[in-house]
Amino acid sequence: MDKKIVKILVAIIVICAIIAVVVFAVNRSSENSNNENTSNEVNSEENNVERNNETVANDTNEVLNEADSEDDNQTSATSNTLVVYYSAQNHTEAVAERIAENLNADVFELVPVDEYTEEDLDYTDDNSRVSREYEDESLRDVELESTEVDNWEDYDTVLIGYPIWWGIAAWPVNSFVENNDFTGKTVIPFCTSSSSGLGQSGEILAELAGTGDWQEGHRFRSNPSDSDIDSWTDSIQ
Ligand SMILES: Cc1cc2nc3c(=O)[nH]c(=O)nc-3n(C[C@H](O)[C@H](O)[C@H](O)COP(=O)(O)O)c2cc1C
Repeated sequence: MDKKIVKILVAIIVICAIIAVVVFAVNRSSENSNNENTSNEVNSEENNVERNNETVANDTNEVLNEADSEDDNQTSATSNTLVVYYSAQNHTEAVAERIAENLNADVFELVPVDEYTEEDLDYTDDNSRVSREYEDESLRDVELESTEVDNWEDYDTVLIGYPIWWGIAAWPVNSFVENNDFTGKTVIPFCTSSSSGLGQSGEILAELAGTGDWQEGHRFRSNPSDSDIDSWTDSIQ
């Protein structure tokens, strides 16, 4: 082959090789920048997911905290009506909660330090805790976890609920009324029972308290209907 033609061919091959290298380099660099963008996008999406998870976790905590605070005694400075109750077997509790809801009232549950078990409450057994306390009045001084209500001075109406035990208020409420000053407050007792009426239970508590303007009050059967409770709360508003 003519030497000149060989030289031209070599020059063409070299130029092609240079072009190939340049094209390859340009492609790589654009691929890198695409990858960078993609990885940035992935990172930012991951961040978003993290942020969303954090928000969900925060929301969940808020809901749990709210649920917790609902379990606790609900007192605030905004309501001026308080529902205080003791309930050994939950009947009075259900009534108290509906009353509080209807009256937009705060709730304070009385909880004995030594809570009554089903065995303790067996009044058919002469040796059960309630039977012994019933027979011997000196045993009825039941210590409560707390008798102190936050913002007590802000309440002008206090409803006090309890089960009837042997015709009178279950005695765990006694130390609450003894330990609080009801001066200037309207006090309305209510109870649940199988068949007995309110009887003298309100008067006995009023005497133990020594202060407060105690009203007649109301007896509910153990499982009253919602409308029974609602018509009573309507009548006292
Ligand atoms: C120790 C004891 C004594 C009771 N004495 C009476 C009573 O004298 N008259 C009555 O009608 N019910 C009586 N009961 C039934 C309760 O008053 C009634 O079941 C009440 O709704 C229970 O409320 P609680 O679930 O909030 O504790 C007595 C219950 C117990 C455990």
